[in-house]
Amino acid sequence: MVSFINDATIDRVKDDGNIVDIISSYVQLNKSGANYVGLCPFHNEKTPSFTVSQSKQFFHCFGCGESGDSIAFIMKIENLDFIDATKLLADRLAIPIEEKKVDNQRTRERERAYEINKTAARFFYKNLINNPQALKYLEKRQIDPRTIRRFGLGFAPDTWDSLYNYLVDKKYKSEEIEKIGLIGKKSGNNGYYDRFRNRIIFPIINTRGNIIGFGGRILDDSMPKYLNSKESIVFHKRNNLFGLNLVHKHSNREKILLVEGYMDVIALFAKGMNFTVASLGTALTNEQVKLLRRYGNNIYICYDSDQAGSNATLKAIDILLEEDIDPKIILLPEGMDPDDYIKKYGMLEFEKLFVKSLNHIDYKIFINKKKYDLSNTEDNIQFTIKIADIIRKLKSPVEQDVYINKISQDTGISKEAIEKEIKSKVEKKSNKKRNLKYNQPTIKPVTSEIPSGYLKAELELIKLAIEDKDFFETINDRLGKEDFSSNGNQELFQIISSEYEFNSKLDMDKLVNKFIDSGIEQNLINTLTETKLDYNPTQIDKILVDLMSTVVINKLEKQRREIIKNIENIDKQSETKELRLKLINLNNELKSIRQE
Ligand code: GTP
Ligand code: MN
Repeated sequence: MVSFINDATIDRVKDDGNIVDIISSYVQLNKSGANYVGLCPFHNEKTPSFTVSQSKQFFHCFGCGESGDSIAFIMKIENLDFIDATKLLADRLAIPIEEKKVDNQRTRERERAYEINKTAARFFYKNLINNPQALKYLEKRQIDPRTIRRFGLGFAPDTWDSLYNYLVDKKYKSEEIEKIGLIGKKSGNNGYYDRFRNRIIFPIINTRGNIIGFGGRILDDSMPKYLNSKESIVFHKRNNLFGLNLVHKHSNREKILLVEGYMDVIALFAKGMNFTVASLGTALTNEQVKLLRRYGNNIYICYDSDQAGSNATLKAIDILLEEDIDPKIILLPEGMDPDDYIKKYGMLEFEKLFVKSLNHIDYKIFINKKKYDLSNTEDNIQFTIKIADIIRKLKSPVEQDVYINKISQDTGISKEAIEKEIKSKVEKKSNKKRNLKYNQPTIKPVTSEIPSGYLKAELELIKLAIEDKDFFETINDRLGKEDFSSNGNQELFQIISSEYEFNSKLDMDKLVNKFIDSGIEQNLINTLTETKLDYNPTQIDKILVDLMSTVVINKLEKQRREIIKNIENIDKQSETKELRLKLINLNNELKSIRQE
């Protein structure tokens, strides 16, 4: 959807933001008569010719001729376009951004679908509150009223047309209700019927807070247990996850827990675990993983402990690995799902399982051990061949060695024999993938982007880290991978730090191949290789500090925007107060880093 910031927001940004304050956080300004003056940030100068007028809310440099209002200043200094510069200022000033929507057919249809879904959700909710039987069901499953409200749970009555009549009463058209899957056409073109009947309703909400679809669970053992909305203009199962809206809002983005069931997400959230998601009744998709990556790189899988669950886990592992995520797997006692587990053993015990979680290889070994009887010779051999296939795919020789040892101990087969087995087959699949990636640059033309201020700082740091291990250590002392703003930069930094574990000097060409291998975007690699370091060596310590400060400032700014957003979302007075305090602290922290 194309959107522009509406004019009123732009006016407010210009009106509310004092240009002197805004520029002061970049340039040291001194009062001089009616104006303020300082050294121009846009060209090199020793005597100040950069002037800021408070009354006109305008800056002008008599040296280089740059001039404009506060937004123009931010555009120039942060290297942003008009929209992004306005957004940045609006964020800093805690002005909510109202977007001017481009009025097109699809956008209208989508808005309409959200609206109908919202109306339907209200209907379902009212029905739940007035239905003792449905309430009793939820109570039995230990879902409290607060959780019901949090998830907007509802109940679809056991009738054929209550929802249909309700929506038509609200002046929605049958065709549009049918299109988003709330009602179906009766055969013979003979009117419509409600698709969700006698079911507990789970609204599926995207990260922008729109209801995109519904899941419905039957109250007894009849089939199908779950019914989901069908694909529609707003509901794409591949691209969404149940619970992601709450993760988006509440989690600190350290971990993500993947579970199978809607009920698991709800039960865990009710007990305070705010980083759980489930896919929408289908296997995990690459799109969902790409989405998840934004919410934490530490992904844990805790699917049902049964045959279906372990098959789904193996599939999910492959998808995650394809997206360069190394998941951890949490094991439950046979036959249980997370919901059962916390009911039986409590949340504390469940949290302990995270520490005991397995990496994907140990998980595969665990699964295969269950399948084979290692005291039987034939099984023992089959098991070893199977695990050799898995070990072969490991990139690190050290890791390979660890597992060869383990399997040798488990099976009594010599290390040498296992090593031979591993070397006996060529890994065709991974070669294919690798070639594809190497070929990429020649297939499509690649462009490099001009990075904005903090991204440039991040890339310069990365480049410095590559250049000299001492620089890397200095950076590594102060910054962690998570301090970098984009996944790409985080990965770059990660790769560099693992390379330094075994090398004291890095070779750029070899590194580039590693980057390509790890699936880092060609654009980013190009931008990195083109990043120039034009520093006076005697100044390097100061420059490192400056660059790192820029990166930290950007991160804090982001947190600050996050908090401001939360304040807008939260209605409870006390929590708002706490967030505001946090905001003040963050502001102070930012100020002191800037001064530094
Ligand atoms: P409870 O049995 O109530 O605890 O539900 P659950 O959420 O634990 O569900 P379960 O583990 O049986 O299934 C996991 C997920 O698979 C569900 O949340 C649904 O998304 C999906 N699912 C299960 N059964 C069906 C079905 O019959 N049809 C469809 N479309 N999806 C299903
Ligand atoms: Mn369950």
